[in-house]
Amino acid sequence: MLGLGNGALSISCTRARPGDYASGGTCPSKATVSGKTIIITGANTGIGKETARELARRGGRIIMACRDMEKCETAAREIRSETLSHHVYARHLNLASLKSIREFAKKVTEEEVNVNVLINNAGIMRCPYWKTEDGFEMQFGVNHLGHFLLTNLLLEKLKNSGNGRIINVSSLAHKVGQIDFNDLNWEKKKYDTKAAYCQSKLANILFTKELAERLDGSGVTVNAVHPGVVNTELGRHTGMHKSNFSSTILGPFFLFLVKSPHLGAQPSIYLAVAEELEGISGKYFDVNKQKDPAPQALDDETARRLWEISAKLVGLKSDNSDPQLQSTFTVNMDNVSAVS
Ligand SMILES: NC(=O)c1ccc[n+]([C@@H]2O[C@H](COP(=O)([O-])OP(=O)(O)OC[C@H]3O[C@@H](n4cnc5c(N)ncnc54)[C@H](OP(=O)(O)O)[C@@H]3O)[C@@H](O)[C@H]2O)c1
Repeated sequence: MLGLGNGALSISCTRARPGDYASGGTCPSKATVSGKTIIITGANTGIGKETARELARRGGRIIMACRDMEKCETAAREIRSETLSHHVYARHLNLASLKSIREFAKKVTEEEVNVNVLINNAGIMRCPYWKTEDGFEMQFGVNHLGHFLLTNLLLEKLKNSGNGRIINVSSLAHKVGQIDFNDLNWEKKKYDTKAAYCQSKLANILFTKELAERLDGSGVTVNAVHPGVVNTELGRHTGMHKSNFSSTILGPFFLFLVKSPHLGAQPSIYLAVAEELEGISGKYFDVNKQKDPAPQALDDETARRLWEISAKLVGLKSDNSDPQLQSTFTVNMDNVSAVS
């Protein structure tokens, strides 16, 4: 049965659906993660929730980092009762607020002995021209800058925990993405919400590349992944998912193209647990297979420049004072405090 809950395409059945057969299958690794602390952003629904469920089943200590605590508690309760794991925790994290990210990271750093895996999963796609609390275009702010700051604030913990893994959930959409350093924030040109999503997903891979170089020798790895086309709430802001035409006419065809959130979570789970991926870093995975991303995601200079400007925007100490990297954003700098 096909429905349109929350403006997103949702299918109310648990049986295999046509798209599942073209899905890349389930995680090929049976490795467990007993006692490992795993943070998953945007874990109240979609791919993030299924990633949390499976990693809880495999023995992980799961921190579900979400902006809506009611939804987060509900999802955590469901996972605890289904997996019989007591170690599934709901924590507040709004990636559209640098203050919230800093508070979350501070709490985790103080309270957790280890952080072994960080899955930067949360995402927003094709929303109207919204801005984050700090004045960043929403998709760039949440999908890239929010995770950039969060990761950097948790790096010491990940390093000290030994053999940490970071997983950045990107998208095939990066292939048509471009980083516009002259107007990252869409203040000089007409807003194109699709292009803004693609820019943010390209940024995820460039961040992965630069971070892997910076982490070389630290024992912590970072990889990016496209999960496939998955039936989640990601399309909630797109007109297509709201129209009768798409639900009644396109709906049945859509079923052949998309897979369930359970299968959509398999690539993140694979990158988090697979023993054969030990030491693999800076790579891009298309579902469960390592592949070359688009050429613009492999450019060293773009990756370095994006890092520098991102560090500046979120108030992290930059290791480059190149004046070309000065921001042209209208950003609320009151919330952008430098890290000591
Ligand atoms: N679905 C696909 O076909 C597909 C394809 C390629 C890549 N991806 C990527 O997969 C990831 C997961 O997406 P999904 O498909 O599972 O979508 P989803 O069902 O819409 O889930 C997105 C999650 O991100 C959270 N989120 C959004 N804004 C946030 C913020 N400011 N702070 C904290 N959390 C926030 C959402 O929380 P709320 O519920 O509170 O909004 C939700 O938990 C995304 O990075 C997406 O780009 C998905």
